[in-house]
Amino acid sequence: MKKLNSIVLNITVAILDFLYEGRDFQRFWVLEEIARAPYFAFLSVLHFRESMGLRGPEHLYLMKQHFEQSVNETEHLEYMESRGGSAYFIDRFVAKHLVLVYYWVNVVYYWISPRNAYHLSYEVEIHAAETYGKYLAYNGPDEKILEILNDELHHSKELHDAIKLIDPDPLTNREKELEV
Ligand SMILES: [Fe+2]
Ligand SMILES: [Fe+2]
Repeated sequence: MKKLNSIVLNITVAILDFLYEGRDFQRFWVLEEIARAPYFAFLSVLHFRESMGLRGPEHLYLMKQHFEQSVNETEHLEYMESRGGSAYFIDRFVAKHLVLVYYWVNVVYYWISPRNAYHLSYEVEIHAAETYGKYLAYNGPDEKILEILNDELHHSKELHDAIKLIDPDPLTNREKELEV
């Protein structure tokens, strides 16, 4: 599934790169609009699991994390709006339709395979950080973009930790036992 995640992401990135060449803030706005959806999807599934009596020990921790991530992504979105990212109807049209599909894909994906759903978002966060890194390399220093880049890296680390939390590597556990 990790391979499939990477293939789907690479195709999507290639399409967005083609559509948004030379339109950085429109591209960033679309990316931020899409980036929020998985966190809403994870929260929806966690709420539903809770209602069904399927709350695990990591449940509250994950809900807090995903809520904070979704708020942070909305802050990024608002910043991109302040720089004209959502000024054109066509970009709003593309993003709002993409996000509808992406939200429901993530709901189903997270329900049947949380580990792989987290991995997809991990890859998306790494891609977002790289995208902002390229912008800084071509356009010079921009404090706010650097701050957002660091937020995306932080999200990717949190997702990596979440994968470890829900599906610890047995080898790592064995290593831990040996350390004691
Ligand atoms: Fe973001
Ligand atoms: Fe992010």
